[in-house]
Amino acid sequence: MQENSRWHVFDNADQIAVAACQQILKVAERAIDDHGMFKLVLAGGKTPEKVYQMLAQADADWAKWLIYYGDERCLPADHPDRNSVMANQALLSKVSIPAEQIHTMPTEIGTELAAAFYQPLVSAALPFDLVLLGMGEDGHTASLFPDHQHNKDELVHAVYSSPKPPLERITLSAAALSTSHEVIFLIAGGNKQEVIKHWQQGADLPVARIQPENPMDIYILREYFQAVTTPDLSSNYYGQQGYALDSTNQHRDNMPD
Ligand code: 6PG
Repeated sequence: MQENSRWHVFDNADQIAVAACQQILKVAERAIDDHGMFKLVLAGGKTPEKVYQMLAQADADWAKWLIYYGDERCLPADHPDRNSVMANQALLSKVSIPAEQIHTMPTEIGTELAAAFYQPLVSAALPFDLVLLGMGEDGHTASLFPDHQHNKDELVHAVYSSPKPPLERITLSAAALSTSHEVIFLIAGGNKQEVIKHWQQGADLPVARIQPENPMDIYILREYFQAVTTPDLSSNYYGQQGYALDSTNQHRDNMPD
């Protein structure tokens, strides 16, 4: 766990989505002002889906957005369990990002081929401006799972034995996901208290291998966070506003700019 991670604590997934959506739009504006484009990596999962639905209502300079994926399941292109199908329904079909700037992982051609296809795209894109990630109950993120070994030179890994169906996937490496100006974790849903505790205690989990140069922002349900912090901190929670703490539990007055 990065020493300076920022924890943003909320009552429910809708509040997480509102706050994350605001931060994404700010990061996008800053990136476009700075270098004329915004390179965003999308996550799969239920929590990110809410964020995409909200983003779709926003007014942004969509023509400057470039979309990448953190991982994808090896399924037919139109399969409802694909992350690209979810992102398309929730966001991409509703905004005017040029089709050639949406870099879907072509996992319908097979794990190995899709990973080889995506590798040069990632290499050319790095550093990303923003990487969005979820986290599973076992501490996986993207399709980086506990106990899976990957070649450290690869930016994109083929995955053959995912514990979460389907078995075959491709995923960006921890190094590629960490090569980003900003990283936001969106953590709600399921039963994630225990794994959060282990992450904070320094366990060797896939999430712990995401180590960008700048502090990460972790948007999380209050019930998960309380499990690992001192009880008196919960009385300082500011409801709708979210309550930001750094990883040493110091109160931070402001949400990130
Ligand atoms: C996937 C995701 C995966 C997801 C987490 C959290 O393709 O399955 O990329 O890493 O983000 O499992 O998902 P939830 O937010 O739905 O719990």
